[in-house]
Amino acid sequence: MILQTTDLPEMVQRRLDAEFEVVRLPQTGEARTEFLARRGREIRGIAGKGDGRVDAELLDQLPALRIVSSFSAGLDRVDVEACRKRGIAVTNTSHVLCEAVADTGLWLLMGVARRFGEGEVFVRNGSWLKGQMPWGGSLKGLKVGIYGLGHIGRQMASRFAFLGCEVGYHGRNAQGVDYAWFSDLEGLAKWCDAFVIACPATPRTIGSVDADILKAVGPDGFIVNIARGAIVDEAALISALSSGTLGSAGLDVFAEEPRVPQPLLEHPKVICLPHMASATVQTRIDMGEEMIRQLHAHLAD
Ligand code: 8YV
Repeated sequence: MILQTTDLPEMVQRRLDAEFEVVRLPQTGEARTEFLARRGREIRGIAGKGDGRVDAELLDQLPALRIVSSFSAGLDRVDVEACRKRGIAVTNTSHVLCEAVADTGLWLLMGVARRFGEGEVFVRNGSWLKGQMPWGGSLKGLKVGIYGLGHIGRQMASRFAFLGCEVGYHGRNAQGVDYAWFSDLEGLAKWCDAFVIACPATPRTIGSVDADILKAVGPDGFIVNIARGAIVDEAALISALSSGTLGSAGLDVFAEEPRVPQPLLEHPKVICLPHMASATVQTRIDMGEEMIRQLHAHLAD
């Protein structure tokens, strides 16, 4: 039996229901306690998105659980360490959505560097009738620092390198790739023109892009975030942008989605997207297939 912790897209839900016996976890209170006491022992797999909470307290009530299969790259509310200790597999879909997300990262990088975002507004608000749009910067020779070289970071790195950017990255370990590794985040931020966030949100990374890092990226530099809003100190970002300590930003994610702080919405040098980096029809179909494939693979006796 599969326990579902979050809503899933309709097409994925249909397939999941057709292939497994699926039960929904009541979110709070007595219903949840009663449900877990009654059915907890029958649950062998969990399906959901990374924002469905799977913590040690829940795991303790699911003694037959073998896999947590997530319809997402991010595992924000899954206690991966607690799963590991209990021998429960945790799978995500970062290897499936990485191309779509990297395309979005590239679009944001170009939009900010070449000032395409501003150019679009320039045409729409009639400014073009009054004068010429200011020039942007080239991608060729742009130093791009990627924070997190996982599936998504690597896909972005190859796109940036293809366009003639110089690529560096920060992660806990050097990865034996041709891009320059920076052992500390500030070193990467000082080196790069464009600071691209592609790491998961973990206790170590949340808030790690703070005022000092933004200052190190500098007044002519910019950030791109396709990972999680919480990795950036959003108040520090707003203040860096308004004081000119940081040049500009391309953002797909925000700390309290779907609420986007007004100063970001109004800032002419900020491009905002509604957390749509992986949102292509085919990618979502493939993510669903992968989530279900992992459940089958881990539950087949
Ligand atoms: C989607 C994401 O919003 O995969 C992630 O971690 O943030 C996005 O691609 C999410 O997967 C939808 O379930």
